[in-house]
Amino acid sequence: MKKTLLLSSLVLLTTIATAQLTIDHLQCENLVNPLGLDLQHPRLSWQLKSDKRNGRQTAYEIIAGEAPALNNIAVTWRSGKVASSQSIRIPYNGTALQAGKRYYWKVRVWDQEGKASAWSQPAWWETGLLQPANWKAKWITPGYVEDSIRRPSPLFRKQFAVKKKIKSARLYITSQGLYRAFINDKMVGDSYLTPGWTSYKHRLQYQTYDVTSQLSQGNNAIGVMLGSGWFRGYLAWANNHDYYGKKLALLAQVVITYADGQTETLSTDESWRSATGAIRYSEIYNGEINDARLDKTGWLTAGYDDKDWSSVATPAISKDNIITTYNEPVKKHETFKPIKIFRTPQGDLVADFGQNLVGLVTVKVSGKAGDSIVIQHAEILDKQGNFYTENLRAARQENIYVLKGNGEESFEPVFTFQGFRYIRVKGFPGELKPEHLTATALYSDMPLTGSFSTSHPLINQLQHNIEWGQKGNFLDVPTDCPQRDERLGWTGDAQVFARTASFNRQVYNFFAKWMADLAADQLKDGRVPAVIPDVLRGDAAGSAGWSDAATIIPWQLYLAYGDTAILRQQYASMKAWVDFMQQASKDYLWNTTWHFGDWLFYRPNDDNDGRSAITDKHLIAQCFFANSLQMLINTAKVLDNTADEKTYAAVLEKVKQAFLKEYLTPNGRLVSSSQTAYVLALHFDMLPDNLRAQAASRLVENIKDYGYHLTTGFLGTPYLCHVLTRFGYNDIAYRLLLQESYPSWLYPVKMGATTIWERWDGQKPDGSFQTPTMNSFNHYAYGAIGDWMYRVAAGIDTDTAGPGYKHIRIKPYPGKGLTDVKASLQTGYGVVSSHWTTQNNRLTLEVEIPANTSADIYIPASSATAIIEGFMPLDEIKELTVIRQEGGYVVVQAGSGKYRFATSLPLSYPAP
Ligand code: BGC
Repeated sequence: MKKTLLLSSLVLLTTIATAQLTIDHLQCENLVNPLGLDLQHPRLSWQLKSDKRNGRQTAYEIIAGEAPALNNIAVTWRSGKVASSQSIRIPYNGTALQAGKRYYWKVRVWDQEGKASAWSQPAWWETGLLQPANWKAKWITPGYVEDSIRRPSPLFRKQFAVKKKIKSARLYITSQGLYRAFINDKMVGDSYLTPGWTSYKHRLQYQTYDVTSQLSQGNNAIGVMLGSGWFRGYLAWANNHDYYGKKLALLAQVVITYADGQTETLSTDESWRSATGAIRYSEIYNGEINDARLDKTGWLTAGYDDKDWSSVATPAISKDNIITTYNEPVKKHETFKPIKIFRTPQGDLVADFGQNLVGLVTVKVSGKAGDSIVIQHAEILDKQGNFYTENLRAARQENIYVLKGNGEESFEPVFTFQGFRYIRVKGFPGELKPEHLTATALYSDMPLTGSFSTSHPLINQLQHNIEWGQKGNFLDVPTDCPQRDERLGWTGDAQVFARTASFNRQVYNFFAKWMADLAADQLKDGRVPAVIPDVLRGDAAGSAGWSDAATIIPWQLYLAYGDTAILRQQYASMKAWVDFMQQASKDYLWNTTWHFGDWLFYRPNDDNDGRSAITDKHLIAQCFFANSLQMLINTAKVLDNTADEKTYAAVLEKVKQAFLKEYLTPNGRLVSSSQTAYVLALHFDMLPDNLRAQAASRLVENIKDYGYHLTTGFLGTPYLCHVLTRFGYNDIAYRLLLQESYPSWLYPVKMGATTIWERWDGQKPDGSFQTPTMNSFNHYAYGAIGDWMYRVAAGIDTDTAGPGYKHIRIKPYPGKGLTDVKASLQTGYGVVSSHWTTQNNRLTLEVEIPANTSADIYIPASSATAIIEGFMPLDEIKELTVIRQEGGYVVVQAGSGKYRFATSLPLSYPAP
């Protein structure tokens, strides 16, 4: 025994000593140990760590099976040793998977010297119900007559006995409306606003929860409450409700597996009971009314007597649209205590949480039965310091709590969320203190992937604001804003921000879900609705820059994550949108239909001196038409669809010719001489090579005319700095980034913003506001500068040679005003980082490249001999190969590892 132990320790020691690669971060479909996947070939990924530079995988082996030990029992797949460098998204390819089962897997790899790593720790995934036929449950609706005005939240309950020892138990659940489920008085899971928002008629998600530890032998109770939510609540501004239906309904089943292997299913059916309770009213925009006196005390516990409750109805509602959930659910995140509680000049009692956030406030209170507290939410105080709610339009954002009156009570809303930094509190019994209030941010649980910081505090605050714009507006769907009577999945806003979002957080699953809804709601003629899920009934569909979400987002996701699945999933939708534009064009000129244009661009009043900020909407449309064609062509190429690639390339040629004929003068001036016109024409390669430089200089002239200010709106802004850097005006890009006066990115920061504003001047320098009907203080669109900050200022990028950072390009562009820029990104392969500093005319660049990837690193230097890496001249570093010198950079090829380059600043660089 001792001998074997000694021997195995020796073996272990030698493997550790020689092992170069270690494995961690095992994921299945981008999720860690996911429950409820309805896939026959879920895809497995891992990350490698290497103790040496240039760590690469040359082969892998995967074993999957039903037993955690993954020994010879119940193995369902052995990949065998596969010669491949692929370490992300390997499809499971074993025996057919069964519903409701957990499958374990582990992997080992071989490095470039043929050395095997140790086996990874096992990870697992679990299948869901796999097909609609596995729903044994019946849809249930309340058996009582609903108060059709207030529509209080229905409660459903069922008591059941567990007779034997349980091995495991799962709850599969979905609803029309939002649900919150409890077993034996404890909330199931930690997800909020479930089942999320999708194009319900086509795709209604269910969730799977492990409820093993919540059940016990003996009597148990399950209780579920429902809220109107997106299903039938008020949506959009025009008294629009019941969009998906009038009746809330529940579908749930608990599948218990006993220790002896038997299974039993408890399903929603005629035997359940229904009633109403404390939640008397609940709307996403307006908030909730909770009368604790009407709470059905004890209803979530076994033994409660529900004889006064109503029966339930079991209407025939289809289950064919039910799908499982792949995106991360909404969860609770940061919490905030008030930084100040004060009386406004108007005498209101207001608490300031210091951050504009989206979520809810929990109130702790003691008082008499029937005391009622009103909590109202606002983003900002007005000029005089009063609570300002005008920009919320019709959204009341108000929660009302009526106390039960038995000691300390705690309230928080269940089926609503609010966008706020401030709350106004009315009717609080006694003195309101910080300990009575907690604000909690709610957003989709997308893993954090990026970080970005600089030597400039205002830019750091800008990054903070971009991140909070993302948190607040990634609440199951990407929304324009989270506070007024809108909160909709505006397609334009989403396409503008998608790439930036992919730096800050892992957003693949989030967007893959939303893109499937986009395809589901796309109109028959190929137009994409202005909002997804489409609750505007196709109104405003087909606008350039909005509908293009159909092509831009899949392509950006492909670049950011390297996953061709999104391209396959969306291909028909991309094509339908492009075909629509083609059909709507005459001689390849698309100048007929209606557009939003360069939404919210800046234009001063009485601007008579010939400067131009307005961009012809059809000029914009022609640029986006070309860009969507290009995305489609790129996609056809990746998917090996040569026929489409050729067909659409020929169309693109003609679309560009039509653009030149219609919008460009023979001398190279665009008919709209605005920043956005030049930016789009240059970014989307609309102009022939020989006319690009002059167009870029016209753009710069325009920027100078406005005193180094941008004038772009939603469509021009994301590409503005990219175009400037690309055409040799990086200094102007930095000037715009660092511009502090309106219009600029830093103006709101200087005004104290903690999120990105909808408008460049939401609040004017004198404290007054822009027009209240369109003035959100949490709109991520202008945060799209984040993409330039990561990809250009810090220089972290990938390319089509190895999308998803299999091949990395580090090309930082230092610029005047910043002396230190540091960014990192958790990619599918591990962390990529880039950190440059300039000091006393020396530049250092620290780079980290994860194992199993390769990189081209662009070092800003006059020559290779002027660079040292670590303490050695560059040419003595055997892991690095200088491949060329290009435009002020020395380009080296690198494998994984950490590198530190130092050089003198090239003369061409502006002094910091
Ligand atoms: C939204 C925008 C959206 C726009 C369409 C607004 O009401 O808030 O962000 O893109 O309408 O132009």
